[in-house]
Amino acid sequence: MKVLDMKRKAIISGFSKLSREEKLEKMAELTGSAERIKSQLDSFRLKNKEQQDLLDEISENTLSNFYLPFGVTPNFLINDKLYHIPMVTEESSVIAAASRSAKFWADHGGFHARVISVIKSGQVHFLWKGKKSRLLDLLPELKFELYRSTKELTRNMRQRGGGIQAIKLVDLSDEMDNYYQLHVTFDTADSMGANFINSCLEQMAQTMQKFFKYFEGLSESERSCEIIMSILSNYTPDCIVECSVECNLEELDSIHPGLSGKEFAQKFLKAAKIAELDVYRATTHNKGIFNGIDAVALATGNDFRAIEANGHVWASKSGKYKSLTQASISYNRFRYQLTIPLSLGTVGGLTSLHPLAKFGLELLGKPSAKELMMITAAAGLSNNFGALRSLVTTGIQQGHMKMHLSNLLNALKADYEEKKQALEYFAHKTVSYSEVEAFIKSIRTKLQ
Ligand code: MEV
Repeated sequence: MKVLDMKRKAIISGFSKLSREEKLEKMAELTGSAERIKSQLDSFRLKNKEQQDLLDEISENTLSNFYLPFGVTPNFLINDKLYHIPMVTEESSVIAAASRSAKFWADHGGFHARVISVIKSGQVHFLWKGKKSRLLDLLPELKFELYRSTKELTRNMRQRGGGIQAIKLVDLSDEMDNYYQLHVTFDTADSMGANFINSCLEQMAQTMQKFFKYFEGLSESERSCEIIMSILSNYTPDCIVECSVECNLEELDSIHPGLSGKEFAQKFLKAAKIAELDVYRATTHNKGIFNGIDAVALATGNDFRAIEANGHVWASKSGKYKSLTQASISYNRFRYQLTIPLSLGTVGGLTSLHPLAKFGLELLGKPSAKELMMITAAAGLSNNFGALRSLVTTGIQQGHMKMHLSNLLNALKADYEEKKQALEYFAHKTVSYSEVEAFIKSIRTKLQ
């Protein structure tokens, strides 16, 4: 059989229409182990049918649940209020690093956070063949129609203090023939607002087409308005939060035995500066920030892909990708700040649907979206401060591998007693896979 025929034969059509049992059978046909697959996937399903049905319906073709640890990072003092922050992450050292920083800063004034702006936007991308001056003449009437036709859609949001902020025409016809955008800005109150924004934009696209079709006195070319697409933008440079920590240099004396507070701060500043200068380092530095941010986003049912995309574009806003933080020493004060766009919601979407996201928000005292922006930024800053603190003192591996030890022990199928002995043995030693493997082997041979 030709390769192409074989590939065609392997294509599964109508998969989404099959029942879960049938889907499992199909997967078993491919792997040849129906019983093992079924019992493994079944073992991760919830006993509570109602909750499992809910999870099954969140996405298509659901076979089972993919578990990730849901943890809490306690003791975040943010603007004088104490939070215990829920975090979902697969990386063993994230919560440990955040906890250590949160504890340190709780004893040194806490995190200071403020929301600078909360505006989001979306665009209707369209082609219009008439003259630009004519389009500008028509704009006031077009805008009137756009607001009028979205009035119903925006009613609830307006009652919650949000709605459409402004509609702007953007001329990009120099970049692509006849190409314009309606750039629409929104305040989505406590929701992330993706569905709200997209619904408004799609309505506007329809309204615009009708407007050009029926408006009196337009020429043939002015009547044609080709909508290319209508979609929110995940880039939100006007939805910004700022979070900082600061203390006197002597307060940093306790950070590392070999360094005075002043020496630590100076080394820290150099590390922060390198992340501004060098794109390789900036990427890793920012990844450390997103370790905390994504973990809170997941634990509260927010869209971490949108958050990441947004943050990385913001980091490139000068034309060069840079770190998202700024460090300074001035008049004996060390200051470290994160400024980042964060588009988050605390109502709607998964926030009220996913039982653990709901709990995550409860644990935070049911915050507003603005409050969640500040909490999430503090989580990002604390993870990043923790990473830099280790990097400029002990190095990262000491803490990382300690946290990773239990993963290694589980991979080696160590039992309770073996784990206990390994934890004692490696308490002050370097952890590596080969060292841990050798240690477990040595215990096992002694017992034979
Ligand atoms: C690891 O997940 C994150 C770090 O690499 C961040 C950093 O280097 O700043 C430790």
